Amino acid sequence: MNSTAIYSLITNDMQAVDAVIRARLFSDVPLVRQIAEYIIAGGGKRLRPALLLLSAGALQYSGKHHHELAAVVEFIHTATLLHDDVVDESALRRGRDTANAQFGNAASVLVGDFLYSRAFQMMVGVGSMRVMQVLADATNVIAEGEVLQLMNCHNPDLAVEDYLQVVRYKTAKLFEASARLGAILGAANPAMEEGFAAYGMHLGTAFQIADDVLDYSGQEGELGKSLGDDLAEGKPTLPLIHVMKAGNPEQAEVVRSALEQGGREAFPEVIRAVKETGGLDAALEVATGEADRAKQALASLPDSQYRDALLQLASFAVARRF
Ligand code: IPE
Ligand code: IPE
Ligand code: MG
Ligand code: MG
Repeated sequence: MNSTAIYSLITNDMQAVDAVIRARLFSDVPLVRQIAEYIIAGGGKRLRPALLLLSAGALQYSGKHHHELAAVVEFIHTATLLHDDVVDESALRRGRDTANAQFGNAASVLVGDFLYSRAFQMMVGVGSMRVMQVLADATNVIAEGEVLQLMNCHNPDLAVEDYLQVVRYKTAKLFEASARLGAILGAANPAMEEGFAAYGMHLGTAFQIADDVLDYSGQEGELGKSLGDDLAEGKPTLPLIHVMKAGNPEQAEVVRSALEQGGREAFPEVIRAVKETGGLDAALEVATGEADRAKQALASLPDSQYRDALLQLASFAVARRF
């Protein structure tokens, strides 16, 4: 699976989005510019803007707000990353030092706030109360998701449903909002809008579950992030919840004590327990189920190249290595 087919339809749009992003990063405060440009220059997959553009394209949107709103969702995403890397004490992002490693925690958090508030300035410029409602709600739910996750740290007995709630809040909500905004721009009827929203929500859930698998099985060079950050923070993600349920008492004990203590020392042992119990495949199976549900949510969308790209995006979310 490669991602080129997903972006080929929207190459020009993505260039326009990039131009909006660069123009809107401007600030009179040099450190704001420096850090914002640093994280944006790291690239990233730009999946959420692509999702918004493909959703609008599938409904033949021909207006002029899609580039601005695609940049808005990327700014909100980037703000969450700046904050997330501080909270997770991560050192690597997009193949380079995290902003917190490079400029410190305080500067990262504050520039994250700059990006959030710049995103809100931009969406006000679009002048649609409905659009603002969707984005205000999504941003609020993401914050709740990150706090919920914090409360779940070091809990080896976390239920799958509680894990999935965090995933829906912290990650899937922005995918849902991106797809919904594309549908709103494309003047979808209410049923079609809900179809796009459900597509985005299941896509984002699949995407985060795959991310949690990659934290144990990825290649740092491809992923551009360090492995083992989740364990270091004591995060009970799906591969570990699987060991707690399906492992023998020794395997479960390895995971329990590693989650309770956090840190990286137990990483090799934990990986062994995860692999022995089939925890990665079990998690990917749940991700595949979510990707299938995402595809089903587009069942009533008429056939088009945009629809094909959205279906491929759902497969990519699970099969990806970066
Ligand atoms: C990282 O998102 C945060 C998660 C929700 C897992 P991406 O993997 O989309 O990050 P970039 O933008 O491509 O770097
Ligand atoms: C996603 O969670 C974070 C946000 C949605 C802000 P992770 O903590 O798993 O993301 P990465 O792995 O750091 O990209
Ligand atoms: Mg993180
Ligand atoms: Mg992760």
